[in-house]
Amino acid sequence: MSSEIIVVKGNNTLAGDVNVSGAKNSALKLMAASLLGQGASTIHNVPVISDIEIMSEVLERLGAVIERSGHSLRVDTSQVDRCETPYELVSKMRASISVLGPLIGRFGKAHVAMPGGCQIGARKIDMHLVGLEALGVEFDVDHGVLVAHTPNGLRGTHVMLEFPSVGATENLLMAAVVAEGTTFIENAACEPEIEDLANMLNAMGAQVTGAGTSQIEVVGVPLSAMHPCEHTTVGDRIEAGTFLAGGALTGGPVAVHGIDPAYLRMAIMKLRAMGCAVETGADWIRVSRAGDLTCTDIQTLPHPGFPTDLQAQFMLLAAVAEGTSVITENVFENRFMFAAELMRMGADITIDDHHALIRGVAGLQGAPVSSTDLRAGAALVLAGVVADGETRVHHIEHIDRGYEDYVGKLSRLGADVARVSAADAR
Ligand code: EPZ
Repeated sequence: MSSEIIVVKGNNTLAGDVNVSGAKNSALKLMAASLLGQGASTIHNVPVISDIEIMSEVLERLGAVIERSGHSLRVDTSQVDRCETPYELVSKMRASISVLGPLIGRFGKAHVAMPGGCQIGARKIDMHLVGLEALGVEFDVDHGVLVAHTPNGLRGTHVMLEFPSVGATENLLMAAVVAEGTTFIENAACEPEIEDLANMLNAMGAQVTGAGTSQIEVVGVPLSAMHPCEHTTVGDRIEAGTFLAGGALTGGPVAVHGIDPAYLRMAIMKLRAMGCAVETGADWIRVSRAGDLTCTDIQTLPHPGFPTDLQAQFMLLAAVAEGTSVITENVFENRFMFAAELMRMGADITIDDHHALIRGVAGLQGAPVSSTDLRAGAALVLAGVVADGETRVHHIEHIDRGYEDYVGKLSRLGADVARVSAADAR
């Protein structure tokens, strides 16, 4: 638990330019993919966040040597000779499960602790396992540890995912690249981070086509054909969307740099539907608002649908918009906890199963609140920027998992926000 809280003074606005960091949800998998090459890969534009620290620990436990220089990571896997990832690490970050596919690709076996759920849902991995079994992997569970082995090696096949799971697509991809024969992944996740991973795998010698669409083809190559590479992580579309929501909330203009606007088409459409002006360039997006925010309805869906990771930020916009909005969360089973915290600040929200009905209010009041997940935490800080009075956000360790220098970036946009030791804040 963090020994600090974030204190933000309200009745403020955000305006200016912010450079987004590399995508957390890509960089973590790019690090795991480096296990498929024998030697040192360099990954650029890696955000300085705690989840990256944990993934570094996971890889070092396997025998990798990792050196960070600014936003670049050098991952040397030449000494990797272990295939175990213990519960103590997986329980810190469930994304550690992303080493399952590459470890099986590298060793033909893996011992990875089963990840637990988290605040937003059970986070099952059944689709990862069914898909890998189709490739010839056999699993036993030994006291909470997944024991994977491939008695007849990895063999290419046709896999259809029941749901376009991001993690399952990634684990399948990282095993299929060194399978014997060709693999077709149908109903694959289409998130931009999948394409980023495929681009790195191809730079390492893989033969992946169709990444970023729901049909991915992988022509397997021998493990010996895979080699280290140098790769730059794409910009973090969720961090970008978070700052754009901040600009929409207070009027802006706020411009985010280092992001492909094509990654945020649905969010941009919804910002415009809520009364914002949005301009885009090759690697930037600017949002501003002259009139009131107006209500809109949102369905979270796999990409290119509205991203679940922006649901809390847009619930905040709806909370102070004219009219009533309905947000339906279709991806996770328990991702409305943010609403309870926002209601403590005066929002008028009714939750009914997967639907949230948000009646816009004239304004919010600052209050002590708690982060329930990293996106909710980031949205609570934004709420504090416009609320009347002071807001104290607790459990900011969630925010530090996925936002590099969030307080610094907000301060440079004009927010009166600071990290304060919890003891001093009493
Ligand atoms: C990734 O999680 C992201 N995390 C999440 O971001 C993001 O919300 C999610 O994709 C959806 O876009 C990382 O990339 C580290 P899924 P992942 O597999 O891979 C169910 C953030 O805020 N499911 O697409 O776990 C699952 O329970 C985080 O940065 C199964 O039932 O997402 C969930 O309800 C939060 N069985 C839904 O599918 C499976 O085998 C989507 O999960 C796999 C998934």
